[in-house]
Amino acid sequence: MTTTPPWKVVWVTGASSGIGREIVIQLAAGGVTVAASARNAGKLAGLGPKVKPYPVDVTDRAAVMLTIKNIEQDLGPIDLALFAAGTYTPVEVDYFDPIVFETAIATNYMGTVNCLAGLMPLMLERGAGHLAWIASVAGYRGLPKAAAYGPSKAALINLAESLAPELGLRGVSVSVVNPGFVETPLTAQNDFPMPFLMQVPEAARRTIEGLAGKRFETAYPWRFVAIMKLARLLPYWLYFWLVRKSVIRSQPDHPKS
Ligand SMILES: NC(=O)c1ccc[n+]([C@@H]2O[C@H](COP(=O)([O-])OP(=O)(O)OC[C@H]3O[C@@H](n4cnc5c(N)ncnc54)[C@H](OP(=O)(O)O)[C@@H]3O)[C@@H](O)[C@H]2O)c1
Repeated sequence: MTTTPPWKVVWVTGASSGIGREIVIQLAAGGVTVAASARNAGKLAGLGPKVKPYPVDVTDRAAVMLTIKNIEQDLGPIDLALFAAGTYTPVEVDYFDPIVFETAIATNYMGTVNCLAGLMPLMLERGAGHLAWIASVAGYRGLPKAAAYGPSKAALINLAESLAPELGLRGVSVSVVNPGFVETPLTAQNDFPMPFLMQVPEAARRTIEGLAGKRFETAYPWRFVAIMKLARLLPYWLYFWLVRKSVIRSQPDHPKS
Protein backbone atom coordinates (compact mmCIF):
# COMPACT_ATOMS: atom_id res chain seq x y z
CA MET A 1 0.00 0.00 0.00
CA THR A 2 1.48 3.37 -1.04
CA THR A 3 -0.80 5.55 1.12
CA THR A 4 -0.43 5.72 4.92
CA PRO A 5 -4.00 5.19 6.11
CA PRO A 6 -5.32 8.25 8.01
CA TRP A 7 -7.72 6.20 10.17
CA LYS A 8 -7.37 4.49 13.57
CA VAL A 9 -10.53 2.36 13.46
CA VAL A 10 -12.22 1.20 10.26
CA TRP A 11 -15.35 -0.96 9.92
CA VAL A 12 -15.64 -3.00 6.73
CA THR A 13 -18.70 -5.07 5.73
CA GLY A 14 -18.38 -7.75 3.07
CA ALA A 15 -15.05 -8.56 4.71
CA SER A 16 -15.12 -12.33 4.22
CA SER A 17 -14.40 -12.36 0.49
CA GLY A 18 -13.23 -10.48 -2.59
CA ILE A 19 -12.68 -6.72 -2.51
CA GLY A 20 -13.79 -6.20 1.11
CA ARG A 21 -11.49 -8.91 2.45
CA GLU A 22 -8.47 -7.57 0.58
CA ILE A 23 -9.20 -4.03 1.82
CA VAL A 24 -9.20 -5.37 5.39
CA ILE A 25 -5.86 -7.09 4.81
CA GLN A 26 -4.25 -3.99 3.26
CA LEU A 27 -5.60 -1.66 5.97
CA ALA A 28 -4.38 -3.96 8.74
CA ALA A 29 -0.96 -4.14 7.08
CA GLY A 30 -0.93 -0.33 7.21
CA GLY A 31 -1.45 -0.38 10.99
CA VAL A 32 -5.21 0.28 11.08
CA THR A 33 -7.46 -1.53 13.55
CA VAL A 34 -10.22 -3.13 11.48
CA ALA A 35 -13.65 -4.42 12.51
CA ALA A 36 -14.51 -7.01 9.88
CA SER A 37 -18.14 -8.00 9.18
CA ALA A 38 -19.90 -10.54 6.98
CA ARG A 39 -22.26 -13.46 7.69
CA ASN A 40 -19.66 -16.22 7.53
CA ALA A 41 -17.82 -15.97 10.87
CA GLY A 42 -15.34 -18.70 9.89
CA LYS A 43 -14.08 -16.68 6.94
CA LEU A 44 -13.52 -13.61 9.16
CA ALA A 45 -11.13 -15.48 11.42
CA GLY A 46 -7.36 -15.47 11.03
CA LEU A 47 -7.03 -12.13 9.29
CA GLY A 48 -4.33 -11.01 11.71
CA PRO A 49 -3.98 -9.30 15.10
CA LYS A 50 -5.25 -5.92 13.85
CA VAL A 51 -8.52 -7.45 12.59
CA LYS A 52 -11.44 -8.19 14.92
CA PRO A 53 -14.35 -10.19 13.48
CA TYR A 54 -17.93 -8.95 14.01
CA PRO A 55 -20.12 -11.40 12.08
CA VAL A 56 -23.46 -9.90 11.07
CA ASP A 57 -26.09 -10.11 8.36
CA VAL A 58 -26.57 -6.55 7.07
CA THR A 59 -30.23 -7.25 6.27
CA ASP A 60 -30.88 -7.71 10.01
CA ARG A 61 -31.32 -4.13 11.25
CA ALA A 62 -31.32 -4.95 14.98
CA ALA A 63 -28.18 -7.10 14.65
CA VAL A 64 -26.44 -4.29 12.73
CA MET A 65 -27.27 -1.80 15.52
CA LEU A 66 -25.84 -4.17 18.14
CA THR A 67 -22.71 -4.78 16.06
CA ILE A 68 -21.99 -1.05 15.81
CA LYS A 69 -22.43 -0.69 19.57
CA ASN A 70 -20.07 -3.61 20.18
CA ILE A 71 -17.41 -2.33 17.77
CA GLU A 72 -17.33 1.14 19.34
CA GLN A 73 -17.29 -0.31 22.87
CA ASP A 74 -14.38 -2.63 22.01
CA LEU A 75 -12.31 -0.51 19.63
CA GLY A 76 -13.41 3.12 20.05
CA PRO A 77 -15.11 5.46 17.57
CA ILE A 78 -15.25 4.26 13.98
CA ASP A 79 -13.36 6.78 11.81
CA LEU A 80 -14.23 5.18 8.48
CA ALA A 81 -16.95 2.69 7.59
CA LEU A 82 -16.81 0.97 4.21
CA PHE A 83 -19.94 -0.95 3.28
CA ALA A 84 -18.83 -3.53 0.73
CA ALA A 85 -21.36 -6.30 1.47
CA GLY A 86 -23.10 -7.14 -1.77
CA THR A 87 -24.72 -9.81 -3.86
CA TYR A 88 -25.22 -10.33 -7.59
CA THR A 89 -27.39 -12.76 -9.48
CA PRO A 90 -27.62 -12.32 -13.25
CA VAL A 91 -31.18 -11.94 -14.52
CA GLU A 92 -32.22 -14.02 -17.52
CA VAL A 93 -35.34 -12.59 -19.17
CA ASP A 94 -36.74 -16.14 -19.50
CA TYR A 95 -36.41 -16.77 -15.73
CA PHE A 96 -37.63 -13.56 -14.13
CA ASP A 97 -37.70 -14.23 -10.38
CA PRO A 98 -38.79 -11.40 -8.01
CA ILE A 99 -36.83 -13.01 -5.16
CA VAL A 100 -33.60 -12.14 -6.96
CA PHE A 101 -34.68 -8.49 -7.04
CA GLU A 102 -35.78 -8.55 -3.41
CA THR A 103 -32.43 -10.00 -2.32
CA ALA A 104 -30.44 -7.43 -4.31
CA ILE A 105 -32.33 -4.52 -2.77
CA ALA A 106 -32.35 -6.04 0.73
CA THR A 107 -28.61 -6.72 0.74
CA ASN A 108 -27.00 -4.09 -1.48
CA TYR A 109 -29.27 -1.14 -0.79
CA MET A 110 -31.13 -1.73 2.49
CA GLY A 111 -28.06 -3.43 3.97
CA THR A 112 -26.17 -0.18 3.46
CA VAL A 113 -29.10 1.87 4.76
CA ASN A 114 -29.23 -0.31 7.90
CA CYS A 115 -25.53 0.31 8.56
CA LEU A 116 -26.00 4.05 7.96
CA ALA A 117 -28.98 4.17 10.31
CA GLY A 118 -26.83 2.79 13.11
CA LEU A 119 -23.63 4.73 12.53
CA MET A 120 -24.63 8.07 11.01
CA PRO A 121 -26.20 9.48 14.21
CA LEU A 122 -23.02 8.69 16.16
CA MET A 123 -20.82 10.40 13.56
CA LEU A 124 -23.16 13.42 13.41
CA GLU A 125 -23.01 13.72 17.17
CA ARG A 126 -19.20 13.70 17.00
CA GLY A 127 -19.18 16.02 13.98
CA ALA A 128 -16.58 13.71 12.43
CA GLY A 129 -16.28 10.50 10.46
CA HIS A 130 -16.29 9.05 6.96
CA LEU A 131 -19.05 6.89 5.49
CA ALA A 132 -18.36 5.03 2.25
CA TRP A 133 -19.99 2.28 0.24
CA ILE A 134 -19.30 0.24 -2.84
CA ALA A 135 -21.81 0.75 -5.64
CA SER A 136 -20.74 -0.11 -9.21
CA VAL A 137 -20.39 1.30 -12.71
CA ALA A 138 -23.42 -0.97 -13.32
CA GLY A 139 -25.33 1.78 -11.52
CA TYR A 140 -24.52 4.33 -14.23
CA ARG A 141 -26.90 2.87 -16.87
CA GLY A 142 -29.04 -0.22 -17.41
CA LEU A 143 -26.98 -3.21 -18.54
CA PRO A 144 -27.97 -6.67 -19.81
CA LYS A 145 -28.41 -9.28 -17.03
CA ALA A 146 -28.10 -6.55 -14.38
CA ALA A 147 -31.83 -5.86 -14.07
CA ALA A 148 -31.78 -6.68 -10.35
CA TYR A 149 -28.22 -5.68 -9.46
CA GLY A 150 -28.04 -2.44 -11.49
CA PRO A 151 -30.99 -0.66 -9.84
CA SER A 152 -29.64 -1.52 -6.36
CA LYS A 153 -26.31 0.05 -7.32
CA ALA A 154 -27.90 3.08 -9.03
CA ALA A 155 -29.82 3.63 -5.79
CA LEU A 156 -26.55 3.52 -3.82
CA ILE A 157 -24.97 6.17 -6.06
CA ASN A 158 -28.05 8.37 -5.69
CA LEU A 159 -28.04 7.80 -1.93
CA ALA A 160 -24.45 9.05 -1.71
CA GLU A 161 -25.23 12.11 -3.87
CA SER A 162 -28.23 12.82 -1.71
CA LEU A 163 -26.43 12.61 1.66
CA ALA A 164 -22.96 14.00 0.87
CA PRO A 165 -23.68 17.75 0.82
CA GLU A 166 -25.66 17.85 4.05
CA LEU A 167 -23.41 15.48 5.99
CA GLY A 168 -20.36 17.36 4.68
CA LEU A 169 -21.67 20.56 6.28
CA ARG A 170 -21.79 18.69 9.59
CA GLY A 171 -18.28 17.27 9.46
CA VAL A 172 -19.08 13.81 8.10
CA SER A 173 -17.66 12.76 4.71
CA VAL A 174 -19.50 10.52 2.25
CA SER A 175 -17.84 8.56 -0.55
CA VAL A 176 -19.02 6.11 -3.18
CA VAL A 177 -16.77 3.53 -4.84
CA ASN A 178 -17.70 2.43 -8.36
CA PRO A 179 -15.63 -0.51 -9.60
CA GLY A 180 -15.85 -1.96 -13.09
CA PHE A 181 -15.19 -5.71 -13.36
CA VAL A 182 -12.99 -7.15 -10.59
CA GLU A 183 -12.07 -10.85 -10.47
CA THR A 184 -13.88 -12.15 -7.36
CA PRO A 185 -16.37 -14.95 -6.55
CA LEU A 186 -19.11 -12.44 -7.43
CA THR A 187 -18.02 -12.12 -11.07
CA ALA A 188 -16.89 -15.77 -11.42
CA GLN A 189 -20.44 -16.66 -12.48
CA ASN A 190 -20.40 -14.28 -15.49
CA ASP A 191 -20.50 -16.15 -18.79
CA PHE A 192 -19.73 -13.08 -20.91
CA PRO A 193 -16.47 -11.23 -21.60
CA MET A 194 -15.58 -8.75 -18.84
CA PRO A 195 -13.61 -5.87 -20.36
CA PHE A 196 -10.64 -4.44 -18.41
CA LEU A 197 -11.06 -7.09 -15.66
CA MET A 198 -9.06 -5.94 -12.61
CA GLN A 199 -7.38 -8.04 -9.93
CA VAL A 200 -8.50 -7.71 -6.31
CA PRO A 201 -5.26 -6.28 -4.78
CA GLU A 202 -5.29 -3.43 -7.30
CA ALA A 203 -8.99 -2.72 -6.70
CA ALA A 204 -8.42 -2.66 -2.93
CA ARG A 205 -5.39 -0.38 -3.27
CA ARG A 206 -7.29 2.10 -5.43
CA THR A 207 -10.26 2.06 -3.07
CA ILE A 208 -8.09 2.84 -0.03
CA GLU A 209 -6.23 5.55 -1.96
CA GLY A 210 -9.51 7.22 -3.02
CA LEU A 211 -10.95 7.09 0.48
CA ALA A 212 -7.74 8.42 2.05
CA GLY A 213 -7.97 11.37 -0.35
CA LYS A 214 -11.63 11.84 0.73
CA ARG A 215 -12.72 11.73 -2.91
CA PHE A 216 -16.50 11.67 -3.33
CA GLU A 217 -16.21 9.09 -6.10
CA THR A 218 -13.51 6.50 -6.60
CA ALA A 219 -14.03 4.61 -9.86
CA TYR A 220 -11.80 2.14 -11.70
CA PRO A 221 -10.47 0.94 -14.09
CA TRP A 222 -10.43 4.35 -15.74
CA ARG A 223 -10.88 3.17 -19.34
CA PHE A 224 -14.05 1.23 -18.51
CA VAL A 225 -15.29 4.06 -16.30
CA ALA A 226 -14.72 6.57 -19.13
CA ILE A 227 -16.71 4.38 -21.57
CA MET A 228 -19.56 3.95 -19.09
CA LYS A 229 -19.65 7.67 -18.21
CA LEU A 230 -19.74 8.51 -21.90
CA ALA A 231 -22.54 5.96 -22.36
CA ARG A 232 -24.60 7.95 -19.85
CA LEU A 233 -24.61 10.88 -22.27
CA LEU A 234 -25.82 8.90 -25.31
CA PRO A 235 -29.44 9.13 -26.50
CA TYR A 236 -31.44 5.93 -25.85
CA TRP A 237 -31.57 4.87 -29.52
CA LEU A 238 -27.78 4.91 -29.81
CA TYR A 239 -27.17 3.36 -26.39
CA PHE A 240 -29.61 0.47 -27.08
CA TRP A 241 -28.10 -0.09 -30.54
CA LEU A 242 -24.63 -0.42 -29.02
CA VAL A 243 -25.84 -2.70 -26.21
CA ARG A 244 -27.73 -4.97 -28.64
CA LYS A 245 -24.60 -5.23 -30.78
CA SER A 246 -22.48 -6.20 -27.77
CA VAL A 247 -25.08 -8.79 -26.62
CA ILE A 248 -25.10 -10.40 -30.06
CA ARG A 249 -21.28 -10.34 -30.20
CA SER A 250 -20.93 -12.00 -26.78
CA GLN A 251 -23.63 -14.64 -27.47
CA PRO A 252 -22.94 -16.12 -30.92
CA ASP A 253 -25.97 -18.48 -30.51
CA HIS A 254 -28.35 -15.56 -29.81
CA PRO A 255 -31.56 -15.85 -31.91
CA LYS A 256 -30.82 -12.50 -33.63
CA SER A 257 -27.24 -13.42 -34.55
N1 LIG B 1 -16.40 -7.84 -8.37
C1 LIG B 1 -16.81 -6.86 -9.15
O1 LIG B 1 -16.55 -6.84 -10.35
C2 LIG B 1 -17.60 -5.72 -8.57
C3 LIG B 1 -17.86 -4.63 -9.41
C4 LIG B 1 -18.58 -3.56 -8.91
C5 LIG B 1 -19.02 -3.57 -7.60
N2 LIG B 1 -18.77 -4.65 -6.81
C6 LIG B 1 -19.27 -4.62 -5.44
O2 LIG B 1 -18.18 -4.76 -4.56
C7 LIG B 1 -18.64 -5.35 -3.34
C8 LIG B 1 -17.78 -6.57 -3.03
O3 LIG B 1 -17.97 -7.51 -4.08
P1 LIG B 1 -16.98 -8.72 -4.38
O4 LIG B 1 -16.83 -8.78 -5.84
O5 LIG B 1 -15.79 -8.63 -3.53
O6 LIG B 1 -17.95 -9.93 -3.97
P2 LIG B 1 -17.77 -11.22 -3.05
O7 LIG B 1 -16.39 -11.75 -3.13
O8 LIG B 1 -18.91 -12.10 -3.41
O9 LIG B 1 -18.01 -10.62 -1.57
C9 LIG B 1 -19.26 -10.21 -1.14
C10 LIG B 1 -19.18 -9.99 0.35
O10 LIG B 1 -20.45 -9.53 0.83
C11 LIG B 1 -20.80 -10.32 1.98
N3 LIG B 1 -22.25 -10.37 2.11
C12 LIG B 1 -23.18 -10.78 1.20
N4 LIG B 1 -24.40 -10.72 1.71
C13 LIG B 1 -24.28 -10.27 2.99
C14 LIG B 1 -25.18 -10.01 4.04
N5 LIG B 1 -26.50 -10.19 3.89
N6 LIG B 1 -24.70 -9.54 5.22
C15 LIG B 1 -23.37 -9.35 5.39
N7 LIG B 1 -22.45 -9.57 4.44
C16 LIG B 1 -22.90 -10.04 3.25
C17 LIG B 1 -20.17 -11.68 1.70
O11 LIG B 1 -19.94 -12.40 2.91
P3 LIG B 1 -20.87 -13.54 3.54
O12 LIG B 1 -21.38 -14.39 2.42
O13 LIG B 1 -19.93 -14.23 4.49
O14 LIG B 1 -21.96 -12.79 4.25
C18 LIG B 1 -18.84 -11.25 1.12
O15 LIG B 1 -17.94 -10.95 2.16
C19 LIG B 1 -20.11 -5.71 -3.58
O16 LIG B 1 -20.92 -4.67 -3.06
C20 LIG B 1 -20.23 -5.74 -5.08
O17 LIG B 1 -21.53 -5.49 -5.52
C21 LIG B 1 -18.06 -5.73 -7.26
